[in-house]
Amino acid sequence: MTRIFCCPVCSNALVKEQNDLRCIKGHSFNIAKEGYTNLALSNRSHTKVSGDDRDMVKSRTLFLEGGYYEPLREKMCDLIEKTNISSPVLVDSGCGEGYYTHSYCKTVLKMGGRTAGIDLSKAAIKHAAKTCPDAEFAVASVYHIPIADNTADIVVNCFSPLAPAEFFRILKKGGYFFYVVPDAAHLWELKQVLYDVPYENEVKLEEYAGFEYVDTVQVKNKFTLDSTEKILALLNMTPYVHRTARSSIEKLKKLSSLEVTAQFRIIVYRKADI
Ligand SMILES: C[S@@+](CC[C@H](N)C(=O)[O-])C[C@H]1O[C@@H](n2cnc3c(N)ncnc32)[C@H](O)[C@@H]1O
Ligand SMILES: [Zn+2]
Repeated sequence: MTRIFCCPVCSNALVKEQNDLRCIKGHSFNIAKEGYTNLALSNRSHTKVSGDDRDMVKSRTLFLEGGYYEPLREKMCDLIEKTNISSPVLVDSGCGEGYYTHSYCKTVLKMGGRTAGIDLSKAAIKHAAKTCPDAEFAVASVYHIPIADNTADIVVNCFSPLAPAEFFRILKKGGYFFYVVPDAAHLWELKQVLYDVPYENEVKLEEYAGFEYVDTVQVKNKFTLDSTEKILALLNMTPYVHRTARSSIEKLKKLSSLEVTAQFRIIVYRKADI
């Protein structure tokens, strides 16, 4: 079967030959033992950043496996199923260690389709490939996705860098773009500990060239983190870890329990059928 991924150099199809993925022009990429392939082009400036490091991936795995964001995962799978697309190709852009990808993949398999995940972090992709053997995974940048034009039925972007022009390029006409962003009060109680005057997240609806806005779906739940380790794991997967004074982080370290609000918006767009 042909791969969802194509050659990142010349965009031709990739075929498996022993432990490599190869295109007709002879570009060749090794398949790692975990099953993923590195399709990031190292001579491109945007791939000099390497995505999340091993510690960030570890924190996110510890947190996500606690199931605190399960309501979001369920709602996303619900929305994927409701598209009613037969044999969809789903691409999870900036998929991290595949916590959500794994469930999307199960949903998409039931619909007769296939799933691919990309992320610039090798540590994250390695974890994703190990835990979700039914999906294809590649180390790649969201700004240069190794997928041919008009291939995907659904592109998902959850808390990762946004590349609307690339999403437009890889989506088929009428294809869905699910954009998951934090809602106003996301992680409010964490911010109350960290900042004297916490601000709500800005809620705005952007337009993207070539896309039609369809709907916004909100997901909200409260959960309790019952150890300092889990509270710090949550902090480590947020941008606040880099933006907060040491003294505030020390305050957080003294807590052994914290009730937190999770609040997401899933913004649904479709590639215009023109
Ligand atoms: C906050 S995490 C979200 C991961 C996953 N979607 C989730 O919600 O669990 C952001 C992810 O974007 C990845 N990332 C950052 N820059 C990237 C880029 N230019 N291309 C692809 N992935 C990138 C990071 O490595 C990280 O895994
Ligand atoms: Zn090639």
